[in-house]
Amino acid sequence: MAERKERPRSERAKEQYVERLFASIAARYDLLNSVISFNRHKSWRRFAVKAAGLAPGNMALDVAAGTGDFSFELAGAVGGSGEVVALDLCPPMIEIGRRKAARRGAANVRWTVGNAADLPFRAETFDCAVIGFALRNVANVQRTIEEMTRVVKRGGRVISLEIIRPTSRLFRPLWAVYFNGLLPGIAGIFGGKREAYTYLPESVKRFYSRQELSQIMLDAGLTDVRVHALTMGVVCAHVGVKL
Ligand SMILES: C[S@@+](CC[C@H](N)C(=O)[O-])C[C@H]1O[C@@H](n2cnc3c(N)ncnc32)[C@H](O)[C@@H]1O
Repeated sequence: MAERKERPRSERAKEQYVERLFASIAARYDLLNSVISFNRHKSWRRFAVKAAGLAPGNMALDVAAGTGDFSFELAGAVGGSGEVVALDLCPPMIEIGRRKAARRGAANVRWTVGNAADLPFRAETFDCAVIGFALRNVANVQRTIEEMTRVVKRGGRVISLEIIRPTSRLFRPLWAVYFNGLLPGIAGIFGGKREAYTYLPESVKRFYSRQELSQIMLDAGLTDVRVHALTMGVVCAHVGVKL
């Protein structure tokens, strides 16, 4: 099991900031997600769940699950005999997920408040662990991937779905105009907190490239790391296997 250490104060400060930020937009998160992604987020999640190679009866972990859209997609793949654990730092996000699960009758999703950097599970518990649009938000990316790797069984997959700066020179300026210029305004119109949607482009700018994230996954002990560029590379699915 990975050694548990007191984490640096800067990491805890980022976690508190991120938790407050998501608590402040939790009620609008789903609507804003659909608006700013032109509803593409649903097909990105479907792609990632297919790549997870899950079977009925499996156990899956959704790290930083938020309001649970990735968890529900996983829940469909593992079926009633399987289970999905949805973990997030921010109780208001989880609470919305719980209510959605009750409305959908998704009884195979278990909700838990917890930290991606210190997952409260035994090693080799899950058939797969995913993290969607959240690696940018965690305070320690390497540690999060290591924790996801630790709790996945041998042969299982660790998957990140994330917005990554596109590599295409032609597409990059368009992307920059949308993300930096238009997105905060659009989010504002739909009731999003402006701060949250200026934070988003900043967090993407500061985040790793595709290659850097692949290397982090390899360093965590994953093998056969593959990158799938979705919707002109705006979003990447990184899939690694634990041997
Ligand atoms: C952009 S949302 C993504 C939610 C969800 N995965 C999705 O696909 O819609 C980012 C989420 O990461 C969570 N988060 C950030 N840091 C975390 C951490 N260290 N541990 C657990 N959750 C965290 C936030 O609370 C928030 O719900």
